[in-house]
Amino acid sequence: MTTDDVIAATRQYLLPTYRRAPVAFSHGQGVWLYDLEGRRYLDFIGGIAVSALGHAHPALVAAIQTQAAKMLHVSNLFHIAEQAELGQWLVDHSAFDRVFFCNSGAEANEAAIKLARKWGRRDGRDRFEIIVADHSFHGRTMGTLAATMQPKYQQPFVPLTPGFVSVPFNDLDAIPAATTDRTVAVMLEPIQGESGIRPAHPEYLKSVREWCDARDLLLIVDEVQTGMGRTGTLFAYEQYGVTPDVMTLAKGLGGGVPIGALLVTERAAALGAGDHGSTFGGNPLACAAALAVARTIVQERLPEHAAAMGAHLAAGLQALVDRGLAKEVRGRGLLLALELHGEAAPVIDACRQEGLLVNAVQPNALRFAPPLIVQPAEIEQALAILGRVLAAAASKPAVGGAVPAR
Ligand SMILES: Cc1ncc(COP(=O)(O)O)c(C=O)c1O
Repeated sequence: MTTDDVIAATRQYLLPTYRRAPVAFSHGQGVWLYDLEGRRYLDFIGGIAVSALGHAHPALVAAIQTQAAKMLHVSNLFHIAEQAELGQWLVDHSAFDRVFFCNSGAEANEAAIKLARKWGRRDGRDRFEIIVADHSFHGRTMGTLAATMQPKYQQPFVPLTPGFVSVPFNDLDAIPAATTDRTVAVMLEPIQGESGIRPAHPEYLKSVREWCDARDLLLIVDEVQTGMGRTGTLFAYEQYGVTPDVMTLAKGLGGGVPIGALLVTERAAALGAGDHGSTFGGNPLACAAALAVARTIVQERLPEHAAAMGAHLAAGLQALVDRGLAKEVRGRGLLLALELHGEAAPVIDACRQEGLLVNAVQPNALRFAPPLIVQPAEIEQALAILGRVLAAAASKPAVGGAVPAR
């Protein structure tokens, strides 16, 4: 198939739920993706913060091939060695005691919401309300959509699941003010991802933790986007000096093989037999892949590498800001955003034509979530392309919309 064939078939046969760039890839290697016409691109989207090890990493390829030749799936009617091993790895490397496996970030958050509701009723009280933050993103299922406080995602699908209350992010006083006798949990992203890469202030999560302790609430952190080394530590909560009760993971966990996880401390482990389940959740293939990803992340010290490479990339982006070509750099590690003076879309198109893949987290902000294995030379290449594109856009603002600040 040529790219044109793929685009025509996509238009004819698929529901048009995605705005897709006019590219189809044949394969990848490391930080590079190759399209069907043989052009190569630096992948600074990383499958939206998924491809932690890049493309075709030998450890992940070998784990998938070996497991595929043994067995793919057996169901959770039986014990699964790979699932037990991955559960132990996650417990050994985090503050949590128990794990439930599913297939995506939304499913992990669904599980967290169900767990919180069950936990809130364990003592005869009827507590079910979860406090979330404005501009949050927790998924698009009917449960998680109600926790995703962005009108553009919610409005077409009302009525929403009840039981969610929203407060301004990073506002120390808002959560106490929103807490009632029905409140059971606070659910937050340590860095709000989909709404623009906005980190929680250092003192914010600490004060939320203290409030949760004082009022016997669960602190749920959604690390679907920030987890598995991306922000410079294995999990972002580690940088805030807090221990949550519940954490959700997906994206980077499987390095491209779909898998999600709910992690809980013993105190929060409220789900029992029959309370929740998933046919595919934690199947041997997904767990073998995630184990290979997890072990590689630790063996190759990828969180530390992400911190160093993130600092390098952030410095280069800041230089673009200093040249008046962009407004602001945000984020941690290899989860960064560059806010532009104008629209992101033409910049994204121009970067792609020059061989760099980035996407928009806001209409005027680019996101950078390259594989954690990215090297300085690749960052230099990406920055050179971006610099050229932004400079060209600044010289013809009607096209690129980028207006120098000075
Ligand atoms: C913080 C966060 N939570 C949940 C999700 C939903 O994950 P999924 O698309 O795997 O359902 C996302 C996806 O972008 C996310 O960034």
